[in-house]
Amino acid sequence: MVESLLECRAVTKSFGKLVALNHVDLTVNEGDMLGLIGPNGSGKTTLINCISGFYKPTSGSITFMGKNIVKSKPYSICKTGIARTFQVPRPFLRLTVLENVMVSAGGDRDFALKCIERVGLSEIKDVQAKNLTFHQLRLMEIARGLASKPKLLLLDEVMSGLNPVEIEESIKLLEEFRETGMTILWVEHVMRAIMKAADRIAVLQEGKKIAEGKPKEIANDEKVIAAYLGERYTL
Ligand SMILES: Nc1ncnc2c1ncn2[C@@H]1O[C@H](COP(=O)(O)OP(=O)(O)O)[C@@H](O)[C@H]1O
Ligand SMILES: [Mg+2]
Repeated sequence: MVESLLECRAVTKSFGKLVALNHVDLTVNEGDMLGLIGPNGSGKTTLINCISGFYKPTSGSITFMGKNIVKSKPYSICKTGIARTFQVPRPFLRLTVLENVMVSAGGDRDFALKCIERVGLSEIKDVQAKNLTFHQLRLMEIARGLASKPKLLLLDEVMSGLNPVEIEESIKLLEEFRETGMTILWVEHVMRAIMKAADRIAVLQEGKKIAEGKPKEIANDEKVIAAYLGERYTL
């Protein structure tokens, strides 16, 4: 049997009375491009925070490469091979693109340059982060994620705030990632993007996973349509 890369079992996270995640099971296998969707406040970012060690689940287990990581700190989780982006980018504003990415690459300049090339920012590698457009900042965040050579990359709404042209470019980039067999758990609200570029999609509603399947199955799932899509999504 092939062991899965990441196993979330009955992951629950409460904030006082609010149950942000309620017994969520999620499996990510090597090479998966797993999308995670759900209405605002359904717990998507909370799950990313639990997996990356920024929050400690109230109960449940998270296993990465066979090791329970619920008690691990973000830094050591990153070292074991999970990288993440933030819904709101957190760059070092006074550093250049290259310098920002080098920080995540542990100072490896050549590898940082490769990551920058991968996301299409080579031409502006010497520009300070404070002078980037929002789209460029998002791409730099992805490059920083790649720079730690993760076995699993967590992306949190990397398309929010982008215009339609930028979204198309980002879809292409993520499709390239999928083709090259990267393992990605990708939270997104741009439905068109996730329907096109994910292999599988899980759906959260009020902290519970209500569906999981191929994009086509999810687009036609009555529960998902009622909870989220509003109307049938045409692929
Ligand atoms: N640090 C926190 N303290 C209190 N409540 C939180 C915290 N983080 C998230 N929440 C709450 O948990 C719920 C899920 O939030 P979140 O995971 O950010 O949703 P999503 O990313 O799906 O929009 C929301 O009701 C949010 O207000
Ligand atoms: Mg969120």
